[in-house]
Amino acid sequence: MTARAAHPTRALQERAQALRETLERHNRLYYVLDRPEITDAEYDALFRELVELEDAHPELASADSPTQRVGAKALTAFASVQHRTPMLSLSNAFEAEEVRAFDRRIRAAVESEAVDYAAEPKFDGLAVSLVYQNGIFVQGATRGDGMTGEDVTQNLRTVHSIPLRLTTPSGRDDVLEVRGEVLMFKSDFDALNARQRAAGEKAFVNPRNAAAGSLRQLDSRVTAQRPLRFFAYAAERAGRAPWGTHEEMLEHLVAIGFPVCAERAVVHGIDGVLAYYAKIEARRTKLPYAIDGVVYKVNRLDWQRQLGFVSRAPRFAIAHKYPAEEQVTEVLAIEVQVGRTGALTPVARLQPVFVGGVTVTNATLHNEDELHRKDVRVGDSVVVRRAGDVIPEVVSVRLERRPPSTRPFKLPGSCPVCGSKVVREAGEAIARCSGGLVCAAQRKQALLHFASRRAMDIDGLGERIVDQLVELELVRTPAELYTLDEAQLAGLDRMAEKSAAKLKASIGKSRQTTLERFIYALGIRNVGERTARDLARHFGSLDRLLRADEETLAQVPDIGPIVARSICQFFGEPHNRQVIETLRKAGVHWREGEGTPLRAAEEVRTFVLTGTLESMTRDQARERIEAKGHKVAGTVSKKTHYVVAGAEPGSKFERAQALGVTVLDERAFLKLLETL
Ligand code: IVH
Repeated sequence: MTARAAHPTRALQERAQALRETLERHNRLYYVLDRPEITDAEYDALFRELVELEDAHPELASADSPTQRVGAKALTAFASVQHRTPMLSLSNAFEAEEVRAFDRRIRAAVESEAVDYAAEPKFDGLAVSLVYQNGIFVQGATRGDGMTGEDVTQNLRTVHSIPLRLTTPSGRDDVLEVRGEVLMFKSDFDALNARQRAAGEKAFVNPRNAAAGSLRQLDSRVTAQRPLRFFAYAAERAGRAPWGTHEEMLEHLVAIGFPVCAERAVVHGIDGVLAYYAKIEARRTKLPYAIDGVVYKVNRLDWQRQLGFVSRAPRFAIAHKYPAEEQVTEVLAIEVQVGRTGALTPVARLQPVFVGGVTVTNATLHNEDELHRKDVRVGDSVVVRRAGDVIPEVVSVRLERRPPSTRPFKLPGSCPVCGSKVVREAGEAIARCSGGLVCAAQRKQALLHFASRRAMDIDGLGERIVDQLVELELVRTPAELYTLDEAQLAGLDRMAEKSAAKLKASIGKSRQTTLERFIYALGIRNVGERTARDLARHFGSLDRLLRADEETLAQVPDIGPIVARSICQFFGEPHNRQVIETLRKAGVHWREGEGTPLRAAEEVRTFVLTGTLESMTRDQARERIEAKGHKVAGTVSKKTHYVVAGAEPGSKFERAQALGVTVLDERAFLKLLETL
């Protein structure tokens, strides 16, 4: 025997075969059964081993090897494929009445009281045909005109949920043709579009278009990068007895390794059919893939054959469509809404259009960035989407239909509700009105926050009362709470005289507060309780805080540039300052102090006091240390910075010496204090 150096040994052949089977099993666990058993890294390692084996011994390669899933050499054109049996379309029903008529026709034809239907979602993807010979995937084709499609075998090999080799070795069909849908999951579509945009490429309009574009790539390596999925919904086999029912056929497909939709069901009669329609409709937006209806097929295959076909559609099946989730309409105007938190949302006023089952007249444009990215203009034709209960949104502009006179839309610089300045923080997508205390859109929210327990703590001023006070225009700003009289309060719905008096009293009581509560109560964006407390301690008085510029604020420990800016923007809005002045005039007050400069942790010095001081008591010394933002501790440790020793010091003095902590006498201490 002449030895060929490159001839793989039996052992290598077996290893390659074992790797293929293992990889396909894990592929199936991951993509079909959704329960992976190994990590991506483990899969990759096995995959690399197989690639290296096949590279070293090209005669080991085979068409059903998982290494084929990465794509192959680009084609110059797709070959045509004659379908063995035509790939048909389905007749459509939009109303329950049409489905009832379908069921009546079926029952009359098969002479049965009630018929079982195999029901499944109607996927919004593209139909493909997959041919297996002796269990190996040999040819995949698009539907084309129903008679002739395109040979996209290489591309379909890259779709991980399509088995390259079927799992049952015994009783394999000589020839099996499986039909089903290629589609893209919504989440995969979003991620793909994000990648496209990041790479400066065009985004796809919807998952269906993305799936179609990906499948019809001449370079299958491009297809391999696209997250395509497959669901099988029909099969035909040669040379063996046909299945009894559609469901049995689907179960066989599951058994030999195909993904079949888990939402499928066998339903009984017209009531079962209509209940299924409603059930899937309720789940529609939660499904990971887009569907445009459900399909009912007579479950018994002998009846299917008996019913046959009309022109290009089977008589035994019908698609029951859901209302389209997208429609095209015209933008009549763009308005800006101000939300409870001051967020500005551009909204498109639309030529009314029936979409997602309701008539839509407004659609959100989300925020400034989205508005500019989509470049929606008044007069544009736009694709509007309403899926389930979500707020209708403008998806895209039909640029080819744009009239010549349109202009880009700009968000206003001042709030359309109160006229305060509109600001947008760095790194934020949302522009906001800065008139937190005065803006009518934010009034209820601002009042509730102002009155809340941890802010001004006005007992009894809850949502029900605030709603009325705002709606009756009795209160426009928090300051006006303090001028309400008992008669006005007693006039509110469900407010007895006694509770009016009580509310009046708790409003009165809230006049006496603390600076930190007052700052927190203002509802400054990004200023929570903790920051309010830091500000109060650091500045000691409201006026000092009001005078602080952005730079000064940002120097306060724990206050970053974003918070500093929010504070400046808030106090920079004259309307807000006015309300603060009115609050003070209405008698809201608190104790003010010098303020204690807050220090970063590493700047804080820890003192321990011992013995009797001459010029002050120990408490006074403590106050002076704390006034500078430093700390006094009770015991000496390695972390103590200074021990201040007066006359007749105690054991703390000895401990300081033992630990090598600096000991100061009174004079040295006073000198040090000046420099700290
Ligand atoms: S059965 C003989 N089942 O709908 C009937 N089709 O109008 C063959 N489709 O292009 C189709 N989901 O791609 C069937 N569960 C489903 C389907 C489905 C989507 C598509 C199919 C075809 C079109 C027929």
